Amino acid sequence: MSTVEKVSRSGKPAVVAHRGASSQAPEHTLAAYELALDQGADGLECDVRLTADHELVCIHDRTVDRTSNGSGVVSEMTLAELRELDFGSWHDADAPASVLTLRDLLTLTLDWRRPVRLFIETKHPVRFGSLVEQKLLEALHEFGVATPPSADHSRAVVISFSSAGVWRIRRHAPMLPTILLGDTARVLGGSAATAVGATGIGPSVETLRMHPEIVDKAAAAGRVTYCWTVDEQADVQLCADLGVRWVATNRPAKVRDWLVTV
Ligand code: G3P
Ligand code: CA
Repeated sequence: MSTVEKVSRSGKPAVVAHRGASSQAPEHTLAAYELALDQGADGLECDVRLTADHELVCIHDRTVDRTSNGSGVVSEMTLAELRELDFGSWHDADAPASVLTLRDLLTLTLDWRRPVRLFIETKHPVRFGSLVEQKLLEALHEFGVATPPSADHSRAVVISFSSAGVWRIRRHAPMLPTILLGDTARVLGGSAATAVGATGIGPSVETLRMHPEIVDKAAAAGRVTYCWTVDEQADVQLCADLGVRWVATNRPAKVRDWLVTV
């Protein structure tokens, strides 16, 4: 049922909540994502990592030290061990927060009262052979979103700094949209993205400021641009002027306000 037209506002970048509304609530928690959805975000971004028992969980760092009351390496901990930690107190959350699994976040996204897109970033997937992509595709199949009729009609987008990771997704799920992320010249003009078959490029906002021409070059190669992390009004304006399709931000409510006037 969902379409790009329904998911994004035509002519302006759509707003993706980066790790949820992470400037206001602890990143990658249910509270952060629900707040972003309440604030009208068009999409949600999450990072995924494998646990020791091969579950995909939404955690940015290699360890849990920064974002929980525990310590340890995510890939050396089981999901049960992660569930014992509080991912809210480091951010002064009102209530304790559990680790979110990818399945938890897919459930929230797909059950929300309006169409929302989930941008799933695979973190360092080559360290695990192809297990991250295998587990990710298993989950997307389970939720019925691995084989959209077209990239434009997809509720899930796989994003990664790993060209090998993007290539593996394209190989096994050719209709799923993918974005090759980069903060260096390798994504400029979309040539690396073209090589791995990504449907979009994902420059950092710093890269975009230095090389605004990459948006047009990517568009000429048939690719959309997803820019991260866009938290300042001048950068929102720049993205709108350039025709960036998606802006990932820690401040979805602010960015939506600013977009009203661009
Ligand atoms: O959305 C892409 C962006 O999240 C990449 O950087 O370090 O925040 O995962 P990072
Ligand atoms: Ca990320």
